[in-house]
Amino acid sequence: MIFYHAEQQLFHLQGDTYSYFMQVRNGVLVHLYWGSRLPDEDISSLIPAVPVYASFDSEFNRLTYELPTQEKGYFSQQALNIVNAQGDDVCSLRYAGHEIFAGKKPIPQLPSAYEEGDAETLEITLRDPLTHISVTLSYTVYQGFDVLCRSLRIQNGGSDAVTLRNVQEASVFLPKGDYDILHLKGSHCRERNQLRTALPRGFFSLDSRRGASGHENNPFLTVMERHATQQQGKVYAMTHVYSGSFRLSTDVSIDDRPSMMIGMHPDVFTWHLEAGDTFQSPEALLVFSPNGLNGMSHRFHAFIRKRICRGVWRDAPRPILVNNWEATYFGFNEEKLLSIAEKGAAIGCELFVMDDGWFGKRDQDNCSLGDWVVDKRKLPGGLKPLGEKLNALGMRFGIWFEPEMISPDSDLYRAHPDWCLHVDGRDRTEARQQLILDMGRREVQDYLIDALSRVLESANITYVKWDMNRNMTEGFSCVLPKERKLESQHRYMLGLYRVLDVITKHFPHVLFESCSGGGGRFDCGMLCYMPQTWTSDDTDAYERLGIQWGTSMVYPASTMGAHVSVVPNHQTMRITPFETRCNVALGGNFGFELDLSKLSDEDTEKAIAAVKTVKELRTVLQQGTFSRLIDPTVHDNLCAWQFLSEDESQLVVCVYQRRVKPNVQPERVYMASLPADSRYRRADTGDTYSGSALMNVGLPIPTTWTDYDSWVYRFEKV
Ligand code: DGJ
Repeated sequence: MIFYHAEQQLFHLQGDTYSYFMQVRNGVLVHLYWGSRLPDEDISSLIPAVPVYASFDSEFNRLTYELPTQEKGYFSQQALNIVNAQGDDVCSLRYAGHEIFAGKKPIPQLPSAYEEGDAETLEITLRDPLTHISVTLSYTVYQGFDVLCRSLRIQNGGSDAVTLRNVQEASVFLPKGDYDILHLKGSHCRERNQLRTALPRGFFSLDSRRGASGHENNPFLTVMERHATQQQGKVYAMTHVYSGSFRLSTDVSIDDRPSMMIGMHPDVFTWHLEAGDTFQSPEALLVFSPNGLNGMSHRFHAFIRKRICRGVWRDAPRPILVNNWEATYFGFNEEKLLSIAEKGAAIGCELFVMDDGWFGKRDQDNCSLGDWVVDKRKLPGGLKPLGEKLNALGMRFGIWFEPEMISPDSDLYRAHPDWCLHVDGRDRTEARQQLILDMGRREVQDYLIDALSRVLESANITYVKWDMNRNMTEGFSCVLPKERKLESQHRYMLGLYRVLDVITKHFPHVLFESCSGGGGRFDCGMLCYMPQTWTSDDTDAYERLGIQWGTSMVYPASTMGAHVSVVPNHQTMRITPFETRCNVALGGNFGFELDLSKLSDEDTEKAIAAVKTVKELRTVLQQGTFSRLIDPTVHDNLCAWQFLSEDESQLVVCVYQRRVKPNVQPERVYMASLPADSRYRRADTGDTYSGSALMNVGLPIPTTWTDYDSWVYRFEKV
């Protein structure tokens, strides 16, 4: 619900479990409160209008601006910075009006959350009387989902062009407190490992300037009470629906009051806004959880599954796949692919994915990106007969693309050497021997739409892995005039989103999985088009625990690709038991990434059992509520998590051990968020326990003589 108290000019955004208050004071929109849900009442007298005593600085430095800009001695971080036609960047935004309406408007040219008759939106317009720049802040509240959506659009109502130098789409002050921050850091093969540290005083930021959300920092940040755990404590969190460079920041400034912000990265963004034009920011997603990190993740997961992911695959069971990348790399032909697929079909797999190497002359990663034409040396009959043979085995056919890239050794590059991002007179820096197409250009977008559509129409293809294997250097469009050069990165994103929009709408039956050297672009922007992402190129079961644990902070299991691969593992050379590799992979969208035709009889039996289990549990795993139980970054030997079905009738508990330890007492795993009085029967023993007992007494974890052992316990409500 959204309430407006006209006399006090007070706005109250009330979700099912949170409230958010703002007030217009002397024309300035100030933030009052974000936290547990309150009844609709006037809280403004509880929050003094100006600080009791503001010596030296003006009182404006202590105002909790809803949208801080450069004005009247506000010295903390600004959410918006605009160089106006006079050349200065002062911007005194004052309340000019508001509107409350049912529903939520889609954000033009950008992905955004959608509604199904369950949303209400408040738009507040602020205006600078001198420059006539106005900003409309948009807030959407949902019924049934505890995520607040925020975005803003800037209108240049003046008579001259202005330059946007910094646009942070959401900024919020938090109450004074003793806080930690938690974020997800990494690199290729080590994505989204959680890091928890004390909230530093001053300015702190994590970011990507890479032209993609990136492996290094996920666009997600929490500020949480120091004592917060998985189950308890207040947690404030932000992410956004955008896949390009970003900055997330906190600032604890003069009065020790923290604020946090999210937006595009100001180092790699400016926007030239002509008189009369409008600029639209991406959308931020804000979550307040009064019940710890699991409470935060439950809110993000439910929302991402139902209001970010969309289309026919949103609720459909995700197919169990076998992908040939780690089985063959570039060295395959049709016969080899079919030998893997045949075994996959016998094991119970439902989809065969042909990875990199099927097009152009791509025997290595040094050529052919852009030439989306089948390599007849490897597939003499082309894609159609391969698809038919797979379908005859009972398998769907999936295919890999890396559409945004161009190899210097490609027919496309020979025809259009200026289609890549570059700077005239400088080296075109290659990474993985490839360059990046200028997705901001309409002709490039149209080429890709056409080339990809031809392939997808040429055979019965029902899955696409959309890869992207390098970040931007010299990331500029050669067709933009100099005052617009720094728009290149954002224009790239807008162009990419256009291509994705057209292709996914044109092929609605196709399941798209995004990928970027593993999980280098795992964000809500991509999830609007592709409901799953390849989590990491690191398929080692032990490494995956930390990666999937961290990823689960924001993203539901149904968005994470997770595959069983060979041992010694290709990334770490580690040897882990086959069962454990399966038990880790069932924490996401389950698949295999190995040469199944070489699987031993013993492992084949285990693979058949694992596939049967995944099929039985798929609804719980993909649509249930996921809770983290034992933190592998805190416990020196264990990791555990659980899935509870939507109707709470089925519980799956997964426990993973690293090393065998001699002479130790059995550890216990305590379940979470169960209905206390319900009774659950454990499938393997038949014993029944109350939800309360499972949460408070917990289950003993067996002692074992196997390193990297694991257990999956299934319970049914009786
Ligand atoms: C990077 C991906 O993450 C891998 O799974 C694989 O598809 C390769 N690219 C292929 O080049």
